[in-house]
This record gives sequence, C-alpha cells and structure tokens, in this order.
Amino acid sequence: MDLDPIQQAAQEQFARQSSQYGRGHILEDVADVRAALSQIPLPAHATVLDVATGGGHTGLLLASLGHDVILADLAQPMLDRAARLAAERGLAVTTRQHAAETLPYPDEHFDLVTCRVAAHHFSSPESFVRESARVLRPGGCFLLIDGSVPDDQPEAEAWIHALEKWRDPSHHRFLTPRAWRVLCGRAGLAVQSAELQPLKQPNLDWYFAAAATPPENRREVLKLIETASAQVRAAFRLAEEDGKITWWWPRLTLIAQKSRPT
Ligand SMILES: C[S@@+](CC[C@H](N)C(=O)[O-])C[C@H]1O[C@@H](n2cnc3c(N)ncnc32)[C@H](O)[C@@H]1O
Repeated sequence: MDLDPIQQAAQEQFARQSSQYGRGHILEDVADVRAALSQIPLPAHATVLDVATGGGHTGLLLASLGHDVILADLAQPMLDRAARLAAERGLAVTTRQHAAETLPYPDEHFDLVTCRVAAHHFSSPESFVRESARVLRPGGCFLLIDGSVPDDQPEAEAWIHALEKWRDPSHHRFLTPRAWRVLCGRAGLAVQSAELQPLKQPNLDWYFAAAATPPENRREVLKLIETASAQVRAAFRLAEEDGKITWWWPRLTLIAQKSRPT
C-alpha cells in the first residue's frame, strides 16, 4: 500500500493503540448509529462497507442486523481485533485493509457506506467522499459520523484542532457541517440531514490513555484548556466536575443519498 505521511501516521498510531478500541471503549455504544439507521432505507440484506472500522462497532451492528458487511481499515491489528469480536458474536464479516481515500471496489457496489469517528484522520476527505459516492449504488446511502465544529466559529475550530493535535498527532482536521455538505454535493450525494449533537468528554485521563499521549503533550493540552477564551469555553461547554475537566464535542451525523438516474 502506498501511503501519504498523514495516512502513515494514522496507520502507525492505530496499529499501536488497537487494544484500546475494542470492548469498553466509548465507541462500543452504538446508539448514535442505531438512531441514524432508523432514517436510512435499506434492503433486508444490504451490501455495506464500513470505512475505518476501528474496533468494528459500527460494522458489527450492521452485520447483527443481517447485512453483508465489509470492515475496512488502514491498521491490520484493528481488523484482526474486529474479526475476533465478530467471531465471538457469531457474526460473519469480511475484513479488508485499505485507505479510505482509495476504495478497491467496483462502481455502484454497495447499498450503504458508513464511516464513524475516523474521517478527521483522513488526508483527503474529498477523495473519501468521492470514492464513497462512486462505490454506492444509485439510491444508496452514505452515513458519516465524526467530530466537527459548528460553521463560522474559526476560533473554536483552531482551539480544538490544536488540542487534538497535541493529544494525537495523527489527527488531521475536523470539518464543519458546511464543508461536508460541499464535498457531498460535488460528489453527487444529496444530503438528507446533517445534525450536530454534543457528546460529553467525561474523563481527560481516559482520553489521553486512548491515544497514548506523552506527558509533555498532556501538559500542552492542559495549557490550552486553562487559557481557553470565553468564546471557546462556551462553544465546548468547558467545565470542571468533581475535580475533573469535562467538555462537549460537537459530533456530526450526516446522511446523504446517491441520486438515481432520471
Ligand atoms: C476511532 S477509530 C474508528 C471507530 C469505528 N469506526 C467505530 O465505529 O467504532 C479510527 C480508525 O480510523 C482508521 N483510519 C485512520 N485514517 C484512515 C484512513 N486514511 N483510511 C482508513 N482508515 C483510517 C484508524 O486505523 C482507526 O482504526
């Protein structure tokens, strides 16, 4: 696989940290995916690609609903763990190692492409959306769930970008809902809904542990929190509860559909 430096950084980071993303990780709670799926019309036995599957939580939910699922990721250890989890749950899935930016599938192959809490690592969200649109059947759906920032809040965007970079240097960029809408439009995907839902960050230690953030980077994150402006504090609802720093991540759920020929 020919990887650019951003993809390479993500591959190394997640290969090293794969043990953090299985059982017990907050992403194991797939209520957000269930809620989104209730709005997506799918055939009884849909063909699904779960891009950047990580611990496999999204793809395994879809497999448990009777769909035919490919779990794809850059990091082989992630795929190995997701495959083990599938076997433990008696679910048949296929795993494929590849980047999100170049999908090794024919045109119009899938009923659904999903990608949850991963796209902020992609070197080219534009290629990822274009490729997702290409491999979807006409009428097929694209479900993106990812950290985001509200439109028109550049200071908040810069703050969370700096913070995420210190925590996990393989972070690339959060896109605003508007930026995702533009990418979908260019790729021929009609956005059905794009909603920001805040998700609580309840424990900074866990957050650091998941990314193996070194002590000097943790200090930089704490500095950013201490010096955050009133606007940033309000945007992320930065607070302290029982001596613990908390904030709320805006998380975007975007559903788009590939147009059918007229
Ligand atoms: C937080 S995990 C994903 C969580 C998962 N989707 C879920 O629902 O639980 C992020 C994953 O993105 C993968 N990743 C990062 N950049 C990628 C890229 N460019 N192409 C494919 N996978 C990528 C990482 O290897 C990692 O496994």
